[in-house]
Amino acid sequence: MKIGIIGSGNIGATLARKLVAHGDEVKIANSRGPETIRDLAQELGATAVSKEQAVKDVEIVILSVPFAKNPDLASVLSGVPTDVVVIDTSNYYPFRDGAITEIDNGKPESIWVSERIGRPVIKAWNAMLSATLSEKGMPQGTKGRIAIPVAGDNARAKNTAMRLVEITGFDALDAGDLANSWRQQPGTPAYCTELTLPDLQDALSAADKARAPRDRDALIKGFMEAKAPLSHEQIIARNREVTARR
Ligand SMILES: NC(=O)c1ccc[n+]([C@@H]2O[C@H](COP(=O)([O-])OP(=O)(O)OC[C@H]3O[C@@H](n4cnc5c(N)ncnc54)[C@H](OP(=O)(O)O)[C@@H]3O)[C@@H](O)[C@H]2O)c1
Repeated sequence: MKIGIIGSGNIGATLARKLVAHGDEVKIANSRGPETIRDLAQELGATAVSKEQAVKDVEIVILSVPFAKNPDLASVLSGVPTDVVVIDTSNYYPFRDGAITEIDNGKPESIWVSERIGRPVIKAWNAMLSATLSEKGMPQGTKGRIAIPVAGDNARAKNTAMRLVEITGFDALDAGDLANSWRQQPGTPAYCTELTLPDLQDALSAADKARAPRDRDALIKGFMEAKAPLSHEQIIARNREVTARR
């Protein structure tokens, strides 16, 4: 498929690498211009382009920029045909993104993104660490394959996103509509806990909307105050422990 990715960092570049390996045609953009990511794009097998070029003549656009930068993309996306699937990978962390009252009052993050960019989105790949994405993908049918949630309101667009998730090495779980996508946000039991499909389903059901932001902030505080950087496995274990059902 023809795919444009905006954001060439941990998530954007890793998705590009995997989709190129699958045979997809990938364009990739960042904030500073294509000349700043030519070498990276070449290494990924993608084409370095401007943001405007990234959304032109593609079937799918993946947005993988810092949460608070999403609104900057409204003008870039304004002329994109409505049948182009737009996927949002972002997560809100107030300590990093600045406090956003609407989200603090309960608006699901991807609904906020969708409103700011002026079109519907599908939420995918947000609920995994970048190291999980790059290192832990497995072929379909492998026992213990990690599952991730995919939420959105349009069934066709969500199916497309779920197919891409499978291509990148993970079971895709239909997590319902965007109104329910708070169940896969930071601080929930489904977020960055590396679960298989049935366990992920249980984790989404167990999510508690009032508790999640508190657990999110407690986890980040703990990671920042740790005497030494935590290993990947320690981070996953900590996420599971703090968000476990009480
Ligand atoms: N890292 C993780 O473990 C992880 C996991 C799941 C989801 N996420 C979410 O996925 C998103 C991307 O995370 P990341 O870790 O890949 O971030 P990152 O490594 O910091 O990369 C961010 C990318 O976004 C680009 N960018 C920033 N502002 C932009 C703008 N206005 N227009 C176009 N491009 C812009 C940056 O380009 P420049 O370098 O040119 O500024 C950079 O290529 C975030 O929302 C994050 O919360 C992250």
